[in-house]
Amino acid sequence: MPALGVPSTPFTFVVHALGVAVLILVLVWSIYFRGGFAWEATDKSLIFNLHPFLMVLGLVFLGGEAIISYRYLPLRKDVKKLVHLVLHAIALALGIIGIYTAFKNHNETGVANLYSLHSWIGIGVICLYGIQWIYGFLVFFYPKGSPGLRNDSVPWHVIFGLLVYILVVGNATLGFLEKLTFLESSGVEKFGSEAFLVNFTALVTLVFGAFVIFSVISQGPVEEDHSYSEI
Ligand code: HEM
Ligand code: HEM
Repeated sequence: MPALGVPSTPFTFVVHALGVAVLILVLVWSIYFRGGFAWEATDKSLIFNLHPFLMVLGLVFLGGEAIISYRYLPLRKDVKKLVHLVLHAIALALGIIGIYTAFKNHNETGVANLYSLHSWIGIGVICLYGIQWIYGFLVFFYPKGSPGLRNDSVPWHVIFGLLVYILVVGNATLGFLEKLTFLESSGVEKFGSEAFLVNFTALVTLVFGAFVIFSVISQGPVEEDHSYSEI
């Protein structure tokens, strides 16, 4: 559904660049400021650190890359479909493991589960992402719906996919806000370098998400113009 009369390719370059930047920023924060990662540890905060990293790597970065894969890969449509499906599957799996690490951290430190808006939206988002994946798989890949059903489903799939993705990016921002607020109330300086880094990371995440949307609503490769009638 191209709405912008400009080509999508330049937007997709920005997506790759900002995506790598966000991953580096989260790694610097987690390793340099927060002490790194662990699956089992007496310092439970190391278990928590896996949560932002896996969520950003999975749902935000790989989810975004999966969405724009139709827009820049110089491959046949059916190959791009496979790339889209597999990247979304990895994103979903990392998202589920990432949420598990937040629960693991809470359970091992005696903190209640699911008390925050971030956690509620987070559960909603992962469920919707799972539903979107299963529906996409069944209708577009295997066993495949009739051509009529596939055609009718595409606009819904695109709109619903973008909506879920916007919620992913928004909820990641809420997560950064929440964690930084906790840290600031336990001594981290409000105008210090860590606070600056976390806010900046959240901001780059938002701009990354915006460029994913720009990529989808601009003009894809020429053969894509007819794609809705050929899926
Ligand atoms: C879109 C990606 C994300 C999703 C779907 C998500 C989901 C969740 C869920 C479901 C919980 C609840 C765990 C529990 O109740 O035991 C949680 C907790 C938490 N998340 Fe995220 N999260 C995401 C990204 C992030 C990011 C990037 C951060 C940044 C640091 C973050 C920070 C937190 C914090 C501090 C908690 C513990 C407090 C709470 O339960 O709200 N999250 N997250
Ligand atoms: C949670 C997982 C998924 C999300 C968030 C998602 C999201 C999207 C989005 C935003 C688009 C528009 C891309 C564009 O116009 O450039 C799209 C297109 C599409 N997706 Fe998915 N998708 C998911 C899973 C799947 C799966 C599992 C399949 C199965 C093969 C699939 C098949 C398709 C097809 C056929 C298109 C149409 C491409 C076109 O004709 O332009 N999607 N998806």
